Amino acid sequence: MNADLYSMILGTGHAVPERILTNSDLEKMVDTTDQWIFERTGIRQRHIAPQGTGISQYATQAAKQALEDAGLDSQDIDLIILGTVTGDYKFPATACLIQQNLGIEHAAAFDLSAACSGFLYGLSLADSLIATGKHCNALVIGGEVLTSMVDWTDRNTCTLFGDGAGAVVVGPARDASGILATHMASDGRYHHLLINPGCGSINPPTPENLHLHAIQMEGREVFRHAVITMTDALGKVLEKAGMSIEDVDLLIPHQANLRIIQAIGKKVGIDEKRIYVNVDRFGNTSAASIPIALDEARRNGKLKKGDVAAMVTFGAGFTWAAGLVRM
Ligand code: ACO
Repeated sequence: MNADLYSMILGTGHAVPERILTNSDLEKMVDTTDQWIFERTGIRQRHIAPQGTGISQYATQAAKQALEDAGLDSQDIDLIILGTVTGDYKFPATACLIQQNLGIEHAAAFDLSAACSGFLYGLSLADSLIATGKHCNALVIGGEVLTSMVDWTDRNTCTLFGDGAGAVVVGPARDASGILATHMASDGRYHHLLINPGCGSINPPTPENLHLHAIQMEGREVFRHAVITMTDALGKVLEKAGMSIEDVDLLIPHQANLRIIQAIGKKVGIDEKRIYVNVDRFGNTSAASIPIALDEARRNGKLKKGDVAAMVTFGAGFTWAAGLVRM
């Protein structure tokens, strides 16, 4: 058993595809307008991976940045968790491809399927495994090429999503001043409200089933549950850490929709200036959204050493999670 009972974030990184798809590009593809998309979602543009590009490419770049930021060598890593629902292949786990790309010889590597909650689920798991001494340094990555499962003729969904990856290195800490609290939850009764029903064992990828390989969503229901559950999750981590929203320097919510973010901000009573928003530039990148925002916030000075960041997310399942960390 390791004497260290706590963990902390040692470094961060992110990578996104070069190509940008703007709302006016989408106006040429489906019956929509820049005004509708911006007013309903806050999104102006999103980054799109070229067809046939795997998330392992961006996840590896993000992981390299995070390792450099942490000042660690890839051989220091003994655990790789990739939160994703758009891995390179059905199997093997894309985390194993990232392991190969980074030349890591001895590590456990696996993908974690919790949709938009994949990164914070991974962070919570890594925190536990490090705190119990089972692993030492973990790469926790959230990465998606969500546009590979978007129906570009469906205006209800195709305006929302983007691609990219974000990563953190998590390592042991001597006291509880790093990862302060985490919370994970899910409710499978709502699994049908946000789903890609194709290509699993129920609808295998036969020619007749190909039309099912796309995101299907009940937007209003997702919106409603997202606000309720994320507000609750934030309350849970603050309570666990014995803190209040006043102690949070920066709230980093899942970047799905500006209106969801504003509704949560209002409910928990935090000033908009202390909420990080980049959904306008990236759209909803699912499991990648929080680690991309976290890395951006550190690099642009919105989140400084010693600051407390509260991260909160919601996704298909339904799943939701929160994490409170001191940087
Ligand atoms: N352009 C123009 N009109 C559109 C578009 C579009 N892209 N999409 C839908 N509409 C139309 C609808 O057809 C509907 O028309 P109708 O009234 O004639 O039927 C009208 O706009 C209103 O549709 P609503 O669904 O009521 O619009 P709403 O204000 O709820 O916004 C949205 C839709 C943006 C999807 C919202 O519900 C939402 O963001 N929900 C959360 C979904 C989400 O974020 N999912 C991501 C995965 S989960 C997560 O990450 C949290």
